[in-house]
Amino acid sequence: MTPGPFSAFLAEIDPQWVRWDRKVCTVTRHRRHHTRSVRRYDGQLAVVTGASSGIGRSVALTLAERGASVIGLARRRSLLDQLAAELSGRSPGSTTQICDVGDADTFRDTLDCIQEERGSIDILINNAGIDLMLAATGGGGTSSVRQVFDVNFFATVAGTLAVLPGMIERRSGVVVNVSSDSARAPEPGQGAYAASKAAVSAFSESVAHEVAPRGVHVHLLYPGWVPTAMGLSGNEDGGSLPPRMVRRTADGVAALVADRMGGPKVDINAALLPLLAPMARTLVPIAYQKAMRRLATT
Ligand SMILES: NC(=O)c1ccc[n+]([C@@H]2O[C@H](COP(=O)([O-])OP(=O)(O)OC[C@H]3O[C@@H](n4cnc5c(N)ncnc54)[C@H](OP(=O)(O)O)[C@@H]3O)[C@@H](O)[C@H]2O)c1
Repeated sequence: MTPGPFSAFLAEIDPQWVRWDRKVCTVTRHRRHHTRSVRRYDGQLAVVTGASSGIGRSVALTLAERGASVIGLARRRSLLDQLAAELSGRSPGSTTQICDVGDADTFRDTLDCIQEERGSIDILINNAGIDLMLAATGGGGTSSVRQVFDVNFFATVAGTLAVLPGMIERRSGVVVNVSSDSARAPEPGQGAYAASKAAVSAFSESVAHEVAPRGVHVHLLYPGWVPTAMGLSGNEDGGSLPPRMVRRTADGVAALVADRMGGPKVDINAALLPLLAPMARTLVPIAYQKAMRRLATT
């Protein structure tokens, strides 16, 4: 996956943007560091999907560090066992559980069981995701697209709908659904992934507005580019990495989520520059298209 070509495009048309993004991010980080105490989640139960690696793993460990009991879900047992040991060292009551969220019924049953056994889920991080390249010219069927949607979109929907009734009843709770800048600026070959993330964004934003008056926060996380297994998968041929101004770390993104969730803003943006994508496609559509199409040939 190579998120951030849009940033490259912007950097091409005006390098000022690069400096602006760095400056805003640095100032924001600095201000956050100095003005806010670290937000704690003592006594809260958090479920994190896709916790075996990458961003999900960091989010799980960060929330446990900040006092939450965390249940990490994923499929790879050995990685989950390692995580469970690390989690319980940070926060008693934390554990991991095998769950294939691509099967929406199984995922829903898992969340129902957790709610029954532990009383309530206060925080749900729908992070599990897969990225399959889709060659539109390859003449394939829809099965790989469905597979991507099952994990990225339908699992997010199933998880969100499973926890919302309890949260609404208690008039408190947080759901963070992980989207991608690809949803804002789809690249060639990313028809399945970008579409699934655009669906996540539209669904979550709509639900966020619906439940906010009832005391429940639904957020969208846009992580920028993070060098996880998925992030690096687009770079297997040793090509260039996405531009610096969209590069983030899993720990940095996790800290941002822990700081921002429960706050007033629906979107949690780890990188600011991709926010300009919708503007560029409106203001300079031909330049934008050219930059995107160049990607198809590189
Ligand atoms: N890295 C980036 O640059 C970037 C940028 C934008 C958005 N994102 C999003 O961030 C999220 C995390 O990705 P990542 O970068 O941290 O990649 P990653 O390291 O590959 O992690 C993906 C996680 O999803 C889990 N997963 C995949 N399919 C699953 C399934 N059917 N059931 C349960 N768990 C499943 C994997 O665990 P198992 O294999 O053990 O099941 C793994 O823990 C994804 O939603 C991704 O789309 C990443």
